[in-house]
Amino acid sequence: MSQIPKGSTVLDPFCGSGTIVYEGLKYGLHTIGIDANPIAVTLSNGKIHIPSSYQDVKDEVNSLINRSNDLLDVPTASEYPISLFHEKSLDEIMRMSVFYDEMSDYVKACYLGSIALTARGCNDYKWTSSTVGKNIEPKRYIPFYEKLQLKVKKHFLPIPNESTVYYEDSRNLDKVIKPNSIDFIFSSPPYFDCLDYTAYYARIIYDILGYERIQIRSRLIQNFENYKEDMKIVLDKLYRVLKPGGQVIFVVGDKKIHGKVINGAEYFQALSPFENYSIVERSYSGTSSKVFDAINKTERKEQIVIWTK
Ligand SMILES: C[S@@+](CC[C@H](N)C(=O)[O-])C[C@H]1O[C@@H](n2cnc3c(N)ncnc32)[C@H](O)[C@@H]1O
Repeated sequence: MSQIPKGSTVLDPFCGSGTIVYEGLKYGLHTIGIDANPIAVTLSNGKIHIPSSYQDVKDEVNSLINRSNDLLDVPTASEYPISLFHEKSLDEIMRMSVFYDEMSDYVKACYLGSIALTARGCNDYKWTSSTVGKNIEPKRYIPFYEKLQLKVKKHFLPIPNESTVYYEDSRNLDKVIKPNSIDFIFSSPPYFDCLDYTAYYARIIYDILGYERIQIRSRLIQNFENYKEDMKIVLDKLYRVLKPGGQVIFVVGDKKIHGKVINGAEYFQALSPFENYSIVERSYSGTSSKVFDAINKTERKEQIVIWTK
């Protein structure tokens, strides 16, 4: 980020929870994000639209808590969240869900984050990234309203610059991005082992908010059969929106298929319409990927592919 000239326009076509769009703003860049998962878009919007006054955020949350407490008709949760939360924590979450649509972007994102934290806490903080959803008894009571109050305080860091995040499928990114308008594209695209972005914590949140998980999943690049074609469509469109001389920075990983490790950078290079490229490679250390490698006797690496138009 620090090497990208200030004032450049940076696009992340798979922006997830908004790391790139948010960090880019801190470095004085104009950032644009796209994601086809509504939760990702809410989390990103929460990061880039932080109100300038903390007092306003505090007032908003306190008013939400009071109104939630006064509510007479509390929506019933479905079976899945009932199995995961302490009854009292879930009651607070469901009460507040009634006011979800009217929350500010920042509080909305913190509300979702607090649901994830509370779910883990109710299960005695025993979930790891791969065991989210495991039923651990007895359930521990986590005061949800307090979690939310702490969260809005912890992440409150307004940045003056503006950014835009689109809820869109990147295979249609030309609907929202003009040709030759982007200086840099910086992204971690969906992994080609097709990690399910609608599982884990996302699944709990879809259930609480009444989103159709299967429908969301079907709109994501998630299916290994079509992965190559889908990525090719996106790369061709990225080429068109990039200014001449502009660069794409893609962070990709290797994949093991039928016992053979496929090099991520080579795989992506074969799909790309760009002629000029370079690759930076690094090993995984101290991450869950390293643990995966130890179990599977593989030596996968992460590559950063840089294409220039
Ligand atoms: C590796 S993650 C990006 C993580 C991100 N850098 C972050 O910090 O959270 C890939 C993202 O691609 C999104 N995605 C998958 N298919 C998509 C599509 N067709 N259009 C737009 N986004 C998509 C997923 O929802 C997921 O958020």
